[in-house]
Amino acid sequence: MSTNYQQHQRRLYPTRIDLPTDTRLQVVELLNQTLAATTDLKTQLKQAHWNVKGTDFFQLHELFDEIATEVEGYIDLFAERITALGGYAVGTTRAAAQFSILPEYPYDINSGEDHVAALADRLAIYGKHLREAIDKTGEVNDADTNDMYVEVSRTIDMRLWFLEAHLQPTGRLTEQDGAAMKQPVAVK
Ligand SMILES: [Fe+2]
Repeated sequence: MSTNYQQHQRRLYPTRIDLPTDTRLQVVELLNQTLAATTDLKTQLKQAHWNVKGTDFFQLHELFDEIATEVEGYIDLFAERITALGGYAVGTTRAAAQFSILPEYPYDINSGEDHVAALADRLAIYGKHLREAIDKTGEVNDADTNDMYVEVSRTIDMRLWFLEAHLQPTGRLTEQDGAAMKQPVAVK
């Protein structure tokens, strides 16, 4: 049996909510895409949490789980916004696999650095989707869903920083770096 997930992503129930049907339809469809990506992201974070190796094992194992727990909360947040708008939440793992915008997690890595980079790539893709969703929900004047996207986007940006801080260059600034930093920043 095959399920037409896409058809169900656009299902609407009658509701007394005062948002126009067309707005609800667009937002529910968008939220279902987000739901798929969020479910996928959560399982990928767990994949890294379980399989990371190396000298930084424990702190990365903990960090990945902390982010996974936050992302798990977003699954419920987005799914219940869908139902609040009279929509139908398409939230199974099979639907997530079919509709997620994220690439599959690499199975051939195990070092901390490789896991951090793989997760940073995926958080960046997810963050881009959230920022696009902020624009779309703003355009159709759904301030509440917009606010939800803004809140999640801000935390994802912070978590991306947490990951990228492991990858960015370290060490003392050279004299040359210091001189460059004293130059005024060009304003365009
Ligand atoms: Fe665990």
